[in-house]
Amino acid sequence: MPPATPRRDRPPGLDLLIELVETGPPGARGTRRRAVEEALRTAIRQGRLAPGVRLPATRHLAEQLGLSRGTVSQAYEQLIAEGWLTARTKAGTRVAEDAGPQPRPSGIAPTAAPGLRHDLSPGRPDVSAFPRVAWSRALRRAIHEAPAEAFGYGDPRGRIELRTALAGYLGRVRGVRVAPEHLVICSGFAQALGLLAAVFAETGVPALAMENPGMPEHRAAAAARLPVLDLAVDDQGLRVDALAGSAARAVLCTPAHQFPLGVSLSPARRAALLAWAEECRGWIVEDDYDGEFRYDRRPVGALQGRRPDRVVYAGSVSKSLGPAVRLGWIACPPPLLEPLMAAKRLADRQTPTLEQLALADLLDSGAFDHHVRTMRTSYRRRRDALAGAVAERLPHARLTGIAAGLHAILQLPLPADLDEREIAAALRRGSVLARPLSEYLHGQDPAETPPALVVGYATPAAHAYPAALDALVGALQGLCGRSRRL
Ligand SMILES: Cc1ncc(COP(=O)(O)O)c(C=O)c1O
Repeated sequence: MPPATPRRDRPPGLDLLIELVETGPPGARGTRRRAVEEALRTAIRQGRLAPGVRLPATRHLAEQLGLSRGTVSQAYEQLIAEGWLTARTKAGTRVAEDAGPQPRPSGIAPTAAPGLRHDLSPGRPDVSAFPRVAWSRALRRAIHEAPAEAFGYGDPRGRIELRTALAGYLGRVRGVRVAPEHLVICSGFAQALGLLAAVFAETGVPALAMENPGMPEHRAAAAARLPVLDLAVDDQGLRVDALAGSAARAVLCTPAHQFPLGVSLSPARRAALLAWAEECRGWIVEDDYDGEFRYDRRPVGALQGRRPDRVVYAGSVSKSLGPAVRLGWIACPPPLLEPLMAAKRLADRQTPTLEQLALADLLDSGAFDHHVRTMRTSYRRRRDALAGAVAERLPHARLTGIAAGLHAILQLPLPADLDEREIAAALRRGSVLARPLSEYLHGQDPAETPPALVVGYATPAAHAYPAALDALVGALQGLCGRSRRL
């Protein structure tokens, strides 16, 4: 007979850990019932049973405790009468919402956007367009068709199915040269960076150079492992000349579309960076975070394709599918592979397997390419709408970094008496969320940086985007009273 599965309309067979202490004379009437009541009160008072938590059905708890069902039913009834528990037909018996200690505020700020209606913060794809149908089909297929061993521990590099599919895809789309054996699947770029920083620290890399401006979270993650040096960026990309004579033996960079400035590393700088790596036996970490989204020119191939032995290539699905999937990859030069696998094993043994198989399925079936193509068209339209609105209504502002990606830099020619705080206040009044460029600059006084915003144009959902654009441009136009030049 197949094992019974819990049905929604039947109280579930939940487990509950409580300890009965019988206080009355052994065998006296009501001693066990009171022990159950007191054990539940104590668990609720101590917060072990939180408000809203469902309790086992009386039959199940009676079985667990070796008591009669009537004893447990009476205990529940008493606690319901005292207000510790509530009982509703479908919802079952639960801890009352106002019972037990009230949670104290944690003091941790929420991570979501701070309640502003028009979210144009950079770095996010349009998650309302997540390919739910294709993903759930692929995930279902993975669950049904994966061999039993796929549900156990496996190779810390990840599933061979995904590594094979990715090696093909990255070669075809980004010019990456990698064999499946040299790919390591990880939880997004965030984990890739943590693992690589650990490997660099362990293998004696004295310092890691990072682009400035860049992602503050990435800088902090790397700096927790090894010394970090800032590298300036200009209109040709990162200043490779600043590496000469520095202690850096590894560089983290975004050559296809510098984050956040949006410039592409010029051919001369690419050659200079590769020459630096060759000369000092250094490592280049290429963060190809939005390589799929290039609009006006042919895609710039990955730097890794030029020197797979010196460039560590990293990417993720955070821009193509959505950050919730948490799948990323590292194409790793052979000398770093063993320490990287060891770091990955130590960190979390392996990346969730079923999602890996689902992504392999999307890549093999062409559904991934299809989604990326659809999104590229949508983002290009959004970018054009942003560029059009700026040209028409803020003619003296400059929009740069728009050839690729999901964000642009909006440079605001403000007079000296208007600073970023006032821009931020104007945006707040318009309920618009966009980031000042200064948030991405390390060790620089915001007052000394030219006022600019990093505007993400991949969010919000398509129906809400025109209103968000209008609110952004309107809020900045509102500053016109103070600045004739805007
Ligand atoms: C510069 C840069 N690199 C990489 C990523 C992707 O990070 P993850 O894969 O951890 O979501 C982002 C996402 O915002 C980013 O801005």
